[in-house]
Amino acid sequence: MTKKQRVLRSSAWFGGAGKNAFMHRSWMKNQGIPDDLFDGKPVIGICNTFSELTPCNAHLRGLAEHVRRGVYEAGGLPLEFPVMSTGESNMRPTAMLFRNLASMDVEESIRGNPIDGVILLVGCDKTTPALMMGAASCDLPTIVVSGGPMLNGDFRGQKIGSGTHVWKFYEDVKAGRMSVEDFLSAEQGQSRSAGSCMTMGTASTMASMVEALGIGMPDNAAIPAVDARRGVLAQLAGRRIVQLVNEDVRMSQILTKRAFENAIRVNGAIGGSTNAVIHLIAVAQRLGVDLSLDDWDRLGRDIPTIVDLMPSGRFLMEDFYYAGGLKAVMRAISTTGTLHLDAMTVTGKTIGELVGDVTNYNEEVIRPLNNPLTPQGGIAVLRGNLAPNGAVIKPSAATPKLMQHRGPAVVFENIEHYHARVDDPALDITADSVMVLKNCGPRGYPGMAEVGNMPLPQKLLKQGVSDMVRISDARMSGTAYGTVVLHTAPEAAVGGPLALVRDGDWIELDVAGRRLELEVSHQQLADRHKAWSPPQHAMTSGYQQLYVDHVLQADRGCDFDFLVGQRGAAIPRQSH
Ligand code: FES
Ligand code: MG
Repeated sequence: MTKKQRVLRSSAWFGGAGKNAFMHRSWMKNQGIPDDLFDGKPVIGICNTFSELTPCNAHLRGLAEHVRRGVYEAGGLPLEFPVMSTGESNMRPTAMLFRNLASMDVEESIRGNPIDGVILLVGCDKTTPALMMGAASCDLPTIVVSGGPMLNGDFRGQKIGSGTHVWKFYEDVKAGRMSVEDFLSAEQGQSRSAGSCMTMGTASTMASMVEALGIGMPDNAAIPAVDARRGVLAQLAGRRIVQLVNEDVRMSQILTKRAFENAIRVNGAIGGSTNAVIHLIAVAQRLGVDLSLDDWDRLGRDIPTIVDLMPSGRFLMEDFYYAGGLKAVMRAISTTGTLHLDAMTVTGKTIGELVGDVTNYNEEVIRPLNNPLTPQGGIAVLRGNLAPNGAVIKPSAATPKLMQHRGPAVVFENIEHYHARVDDPALDITADSVMVLKNCGPRGYPGMAEVGNMPLPQKLLKQGVSDMVRISDARMSGTAYGTVVLHTAPEAAVGGPLALVRDGDWIELDVAGRRLELEVSHQQLADRHKAWSPPQHAMTSGYQQLYVDHVLQADRGCDFDFLVGQRGAAIPRQSH
C-alpha cells in the first residue's frame, strides 16, 4: 500500500512556477542548494540556541551537523536557524526574564518560515522550555535534542559539581574553611569540557524531562556533551524527524497530559530542579493541557528520589549515564505501576517499549527503590496564609529535621537589603530564625531570579550552622540545596502575604502537612496591607515593562498572559 503523499507546508513556499516560488527558491539557492532538494522534500528547521555567550550551548553548531546528516539520509532538507539564546551563567538580571522573549522568537521563526518539522537544539536551563513553549504554540512535528552535560568536574581529585560546589565552596570561604586562592583555582576544574551543568541542576533536569515526556530520543538526559554517542543521538533524531513529518505526528500528540504526568513522577525520582515546576506548567499551558501545582504534589508525593546526584546526593551526570541513565530510572519506577507505559514517544515506540528491559549498572548512582536517597522525593507544594496560591520545596535537597519548623522571621525587603544586612554582626538572627526574602518574584525582580537559596549569615556559618529555613518568592538554581521554600504566590510585588511579613513574626513550615503559615491575625494582615505600596521598577519602558505588565505568577508558569495557548502553523499571507 502506498500512502498518499501529504502536501507539505513548505510547498506553499517552494512549490509551483509563480513569481513567489521563484523568489523563495532563488534566494535559497545562493547557498548552493540543488533543484531537487526543493522537490517536495520535508524541510526540517534546526532551531539552534548556539551562542558563545551561552557557554553551555557553545558546542551546538557542531551537534547541528549531526542532525543535518540524519535529515539528509532520511530524504529531508535541513535548514539551521539561530534563535535567542539565554545563558544562565552570564545573563543579568536573570535568564528567566528572557525565557518568554526567546519563546516568541522561536514561535514566530517557525510559523513565518517554510518549515515542516523542527529539531530544537537546547542545553542551558531556560533554552529548553523557551524552545518547547514556542514550538508548542505552532504544533509542528518536533524533536528536542539536548546538548548534554559537561564531563564530571574535578578539583584535586575530588568530584565537584557545577553550581553545587560554587555554593558550597563559597560557604567554606565565608566560614573560614577555604582560602580565596583555593576557591578560585577550582574554576577551571569545575568546567572542563563542553556541555551544560553536570549536576542534576535545571539543565539536566529539563533534558531528563524531555526524555520522560517522550519528545526527545532515548538517552537524551545524560549522554555527556563530548561523548560521541551524543552525536549519534543527534543524527538519529535527524532521521526520525523526517519520518514524523511524513506521518504528521505533531508535538501535541506526544505531549499529552499523561506524558506530563510521567515527567512529574520522573522529576521526583531524579531529585529534579524546582524550576521544572514552572517550565512544565508553561509548556503545558501552550498546548492546552491542564497541568497545575496540585498535579505536581499529587503525582510526586509518593515517588522516592533514587538518583544519587548532586545537589541532593553524591554523583554527577557522567556517572548517571554510565549507570544506565534515565531509562534505568524509568524502568525502576515503572515497576511500582506509577508510569503510563503506553505514552507514545517521538521514536514511534511507547515509554514501556523503551524501558522494558533496561539494566541498572550502578546501584550506588541509581539506587534501588527500597534504599532511596529520599523516600518521598517529589516536589512538595505548600499552602497556607503565607502562600494562598502555593509555594514549593524540594525535600531531597532539604534537611529532614527542618521540614517541620517554627521560628521568628528575619525579613529582607529585597536582594539589596539582604546583601546589606545578612553579614552585619549585629543582625538578630539564630539558626532557628526563618529568613524571608521579598520582591524577587516574576514582577518583583523582575524575572524571578535564582536568589531564593540566600547564603546563610557569616556568623552562623562560622558556628557550624549548615542549613536554615528560607522563604521567598524567588526561584533557586537547580544546582542549589537547602531547606528553601520558593515560588511563593502571589509574590510580594503584587501585594501577596509575603509582602506583609515583619521581623519577629512567627512562621510555621510543615512539609508533611503541606502547610506554610504566618502566625499573624487576619485583621493585622489587613491593616498592614492598607499601608503597603508596590515597589517601583527601574526600567519603565521597553521589554521589561512588557514583562512586568503581562507575566503570570509562578503557579501559572510565569508565561505571558497573551502567549498562553496554541496559535498553530497555518501558512501566513504572501510577503510580496
Ligand atoms: Fe548553563 Fe547550568 S549554567 S546549564
Ligand atoms: Mg540554573
